[in-house]
Amino acid sequence: MDIPPCAFVIFGITGDLAARKLMPALYALHRTGALHKDTQIVGFSRRDWSDDDLREEMKKALEEYDSDNFDEESWKTLAPRFSFVSGSYTEAETFKGLKEHLDSLDVENHIFYTSTPPGTYSDIVKNLGEVGLNREGTARVVIEKPFGHDLESAKELNDIVQANFREQQIYRIDHYLAKETAQNIAALRFANTIFEPTWSAQYVDHVQVTMAEPIGIGGRGSFYEEAGVIRDVFQNHLLQLVALTATEPPSRYDAKSVRDEKVKVFQAMKCVNPSQAVIGQYTGNGEAKAYRKEEGVPKDSRQGTYAAVELRIENWRWANVPFFVRCGKRLKSKSSEIVVVYKRPPHIPFDLDKPVKQDRMILRLVPNEGITLRFDAKRPGQGINLTKASMDFYYDQEFNRGNPDAYETLIQDVMMGDPTLFMRSDEVEAQWRIVKPLLENWENSTEDPAFYEPGSWGPDEANELLAKHGRAWHAPATQ
Ligand code: BG6
Repeated sequence: MDIPPCAFVIFGITGDLAARKLMPALYALHRTGALHKDTQIVGFSRRDWSDDDLREEMKKALEEYDSDNFDEESWKTLAPRFSFVSGSYTEAETFKGLKEHLDSLDVENHIFYTSTPPGTYSDIVKNLGEVGLNREGTARVVIEKPFGHDLESAKELNDIVQANFREQQIYRIDHYLAKETAQNIAALRFANTIFEPTWSAQYVDHVQVTMAEPIGIGGRGSFYEEAGVIRDVFQNHLLQLVALTATEPPSRYDAKSVRDEKVKVFQAMKCVNPSQAVIGQYTGNGEAKAYRKEEGVPKDSRQGTYAAVELRIENWRWANVPFFVRCGKRLKSKSSEIVVVYKRPPHIPFDLDKPVKQDRMILRLVPNEGITLRFDAKRPGQGINLTKASMDFYYDQEFNRGNPDAYETLIQDVMMGDPTLFMRSDEVEAQWRIVKPLLENWENSTEDPAFYEPGSWGPDEANELLAKHGRAWHAPATQ
């Protein structure tokens, strides 16, 4: 199906997200011919830019963040479709100017993208409603994460957004949902018969989810100091990956059924018990800069840049199966994966020196996006000696093309009006409910975080979290 034309309005187009993610995604859609030729891109920000300033800046952004794909010819056909409106997110008057501008473009569908600091979302949404840019059937609004700061503020934000837009017009982004491996969890489980029968407490010992990043917080000191690792990635990306791994099969793969099933997982998930969680922070000597020395971070900050948490899902499928989840900055490498660790067989008929290692299914988001099954095989030669062998699926070998970036997929979905890979209001609130005791406990305590060295896999305390259950973290693939 062709993507219909729209005016794609980016609030905060002068910011980092627009330059790094939104521009390359729109440009990719343009290069592949998916972006409708009548689609217009409208930048909105407080700066005093002209249309040409915007074109100039967006070109620079593509040259910097999408240099492999950038070419002058295709840029020349996209550049004329950019225009800029200068204004304040809090003033309804400037939204009238935006409306006049959109009327002059004469494109019926409007998509509004909040690529702005989270504190501005409610003003933007209210002002869109105020000037009538919220019409059902023509207007959609995309809200970036974090959606709220805690359960109460997420509820308030949901109320404001829903007072101005119908739920089907609202697209709450979590870009991890659009990563190919994340989408493939449903295909692997529900389009095959060989995996799903073992995907439960009967055969699974525990599940691990890792999102490790070697980068620090960059220039985002003040944002990160407010958010910390729990609000930045755990409450959203990590909990979504857990939900995708744990859902029951939906009867249909559509927005309602998929999101209904995820909500059921969150309802069955116990709130995080702070005693089953480790909050860490990177230190650093010499070259490596400690978090407390980053710009915009107080010298005595207790903010977490790492978290390891044990989650429990109390239903028939997952009773007594721990989900160990960890995420952090300045870790050894960029590695995101889900590891399903199977139970040992009930009986081994071979005489072995050591017990067999548990089989595991590794779903890799990065690096080497793909799926690996690690299982026992006989070593060639006399007698039965076992060793772990692998069955591998790598996207780049199988499909011989790069995967689309998550933002490319999501922008296309919004343009097509498909909210399946976006979060519904009840999902977001359920996710905040799960982390609430952890956040409150941490924010009311004076305890120092568990410090860890940059380039490591995190603090020792995170290893103890698993060791006390007789388990250990899977060593992720590194680049
Ligand atoms: C964002 C977080 O949502 O995800 C960042 O705010 C993080 O802190 C980023 O670096 C990671 O995304 P990806 O796609 O590079 O794994």
